[in-house]
Amino acid sequence: MTKRFPEGFLWGTATSSFQVEMGRGSPSKDSDWWAWVHDDENIRRKIVSGDTPEDGPGSWELYEEDFRLAKKELGNNAIRISIDWARIFPNPTTGVEVEVTRDEHGDVSHVEVNEGGLRELQGLTDPEAVEGYREILQEAKRRELTVMLTLYHWPIPSWLHDPIACRDDVDSAPLRGWLDQRTIVEFAKYTAYAARAFGDLVDLYATINEARIVGQHGYLSDPPEFPPGLYSPEHFMTVLHHLSIAHVVSYDQVKRWDSTSTSDLGPATVGVVCVLQYFDPADPGNPRDVEAARFVEYLYNEWFLNSITKGDFDVNLDGTIEPHEQRPHMVRGCDFIGVNYYTRWLVKHAVKGGDPRFDYALGPGGGELTDSNWDVYPPGLRHVLNWAYDRYRRPIYVTENGITDSKDERRVGYLLDHLGQLHAAIEDGVPVLGYFHWSLMDNFEWSDGYKMRFGLYNVDRETKERTPTKAVPVYREIASSNTLPE
Ligand code: NOJ
Repeated sequence: MTKRFPEGFLWGTATSSFQVEMGRGSPSKDSDWWAWVHDDENIRRKIVSGDTPEDGPGSWELYEEDFRLAKKELGNNAIRISIDWARIFPNPTTGVEVEVTRDEHGDVSHVEVNEGGLRELQGLTDPEAVEGYREILQEAKRRELTVMLTLYHWPIPSWLHDPIACRDDVDSAPLRGWLDQRTIVEFAKYTAYAARAFGDLVDLYATINEARIVGQHGYLSDPPEFPPGLYSPEHFMTVLHHLSIAHVVSYDQVKRWDSTSTSDLGPATVGVVCVLQYFDPADPGNPRDVEAARFVEYLYNEWFLNSITKGDFDVNLDGTIEPHEQRPHMVRGCDFIGVNYYTRWLVKHAVKGGDPRFDYALGPGGGELTDSNWDVYPPGLRHVLNWAYDRYRRPIYVTENGITDSKDERRVGYLLDHLGQLHAAIEDGVPVLGYFHWSLMDNFEWSDGYKMRFGLYNVDRETKERTPTKAVPVYREIASSNTLPE
């Protein structure tokens, strides 16, 4: 039976600014991630690959070609891109006065930016960056691509986070990124500005990309991986908590300052992007593995979404929401949930020597492994889509899904199998409204650099030429017919 997707289904690809922009035009050097991947000690200790983003695909200048490929060659009707906070605001916005409300826990609960503040913010931008993003977004619109814009896809300005100082001594570091609620306030200013400056060219906003990964890989990672390379369950929880608040205040700003954009879901549609994974105990017969898997699923898939959609801030992580953990005043909204799905993980009890609940290790499942050693497990996609809808009752976009496959042997199968599962989820009753493949082209895979190739197009690092993989005609056929082949 031919599997048709619903009318108006969005077919797209996803990228992020730091991963694809550089390589042509001016590099964006004023972020924590820039510092992290250029740091000699990180390179020497192999925390990062030694590859650098300035060798990237160059989309800062080559975006016309990218959107041509998306529209003409892939038959897509949508694109997910991000803007780079540090490129837009290379200098501090801390001097711009706003009204900050805190709740009885001392947490930021609202940030009021006014017209005067927005004018001041305008004066602090790099005009070339703002103009560049407007041109990029205009081109996407000219190609009639529905634009999903991610506001925070990981780099934060250097004036807010010094990841090297934090790595070396987090307690005395002055610029502590998401550990510090000042970052939430500055994020509110940045998103207010972005909503005003780009709203006429955006269809859907995603506030934050994969809050949990920012926390897990930055603050719960041993060996270190992402900035600032710490292992501390306590810091991990602080960051997750602060990123929840960041979503809330950012949601407010977009609703307030974007008076033009609209989507089928209403005016100024704002969602969030979460990575949801399928977790199984490594040994289902071992109660400690079973317990660890349950904890990891709660912590990694559920905690953040519970906080932003229900106001349940389970600070002590016991799975029960006590009165002081109920924060209904923090529920503003989340118009859709973006689901990134790649793989399944097996969870094993493993002593770490701190909070015993964090005594676990993750390993790949038993299936075929990708170049990243991730297990290919398509049924997990249907599972997480049902899981997310059953719990949160929001429309869903699959905002990322893809495979590292340098030999170009398995991407086609991966794509077809996952889309089959996505279609099954729609038949189960889950309102999935679109699919964005990660990624349009090979790009800078964070600490791993360029060896992990997620692209539907391979990119020559010298010439920047984009060459199609075997999945291109397959994806074109699916997207342009809105059906999956038998
Ligand atoms: C999720 C992230 O959003 C993206 O930046 C990354 O490249 C892919 N996963 C693949 O790891």
